[in-house]
Amino acid sequence: MSSRPINVVPFHDDFAAEVGDIDLREPLSEDSLQIVRDAFARYAVLVFPAQELTVEQHLAFARNFGPLETTVARQMSGRKLRTREEIADIANLDAEGQIWKGESRTRLFQMGNRLWHTDSSFKHPSGYASMLYGRSVAPIGGHTQFADLRAAWDALPPAVKQRIDGLIGEHSLVYSRRRLGFTQFTDDEKIAFAPFARPLVRTIPESGRRNLYLASHIGRIQGMPDEQAEQLLRELIDHATQRQFLYTHRWRVGDLLMWDNRCTMHRGTEFDDLRWRRDLHRATTSDRPDAFGPLQVQAQFAA
Ligand code: OGA
Ligand code: MN
Repeated sequence: MSSRPINVVPFHDDFAAEVGDIDLREPLSEDSLQIVRDAFARYAVLVFPAQELTVEQHLAFARNFGPLETTVARQMSGRKLRTREEIADIANLDAEGQIWKGESRTRLFQMGNRLWHTDSSFKHPSGYASMLYGRSVAPIGGHTQFADLRAAWDALPPAVKQRIDGLIGEHSLVYSRRRLGFTQFTDDEKIAFAPFARPLVRTIPESGRRNLYLASHIGRIQGMPDEQAEQLLRELIDHATQRQFLYTHRWRVGDLLMWDNRCTMHRGTEFDDLRWRRDLHRATTSDRPDAFGPLQVQAQFAA
């Protein structure tokens, strides 16, 4: 363990910070954990550079922030896991560890990560903290971008705030994949990915800040015609992803990137995924289940 104090270096006043002089291989003391929690509540995206983590160490760190989720890949037919079910395999690799082929189903499905989204807004409970660890990174492209949905809320005109406060979005993986033209879900997958309803505006208890809760997983807004909902979502996502609200992470091997899914969106940027290996492991924890209640929607996913 380093004897230096943990060093928090912000990128912006209240959004995204690097955290140095901390070794995530070892269990953290209560004091160290409190520093991380405070930084997380303020900055919402944290970068821990130059870590060397086994899968077990990665998961042990993640467990400090709630119960671990299991990957949606378990529910995808024909998908073989490369690692434990608590790890979301964010890699352009097949089950044998080779770079995937252009026509691979997993590739089409994973392209959903290039759309602005937040993790597991379509699950119950929804996602809280994601911790993404860089094992191999592309030499060019393949960055991860984040949008601060608290600052985006603050900057909305009062009339828009008033109009959207109280609206309920319906989130499903089927909706985000449909945006990419991926519609070949099996019946079992459609059941597994039935939508959940969640408010478009929320408050984070630790900071007391209000924010938009947006994602490409939203396919409907309750009480609104679909075309009007789509228009509103597009406007809100365009607003929230203006450059003043963004942090772009350029990966180095050994980075552990941690974000709050309740108040940020993220997306992967383009890279030559048939050429370069990019191998990232994600652990995600669940939010408190009582946040919105289990408002599962019985949608039929009509074509
Ligand atoms: C994720 C994700 C984007 C990327 O890990 O949840 O969306 O940069 N990643 O690959
Ligand atoms: Mn994601």
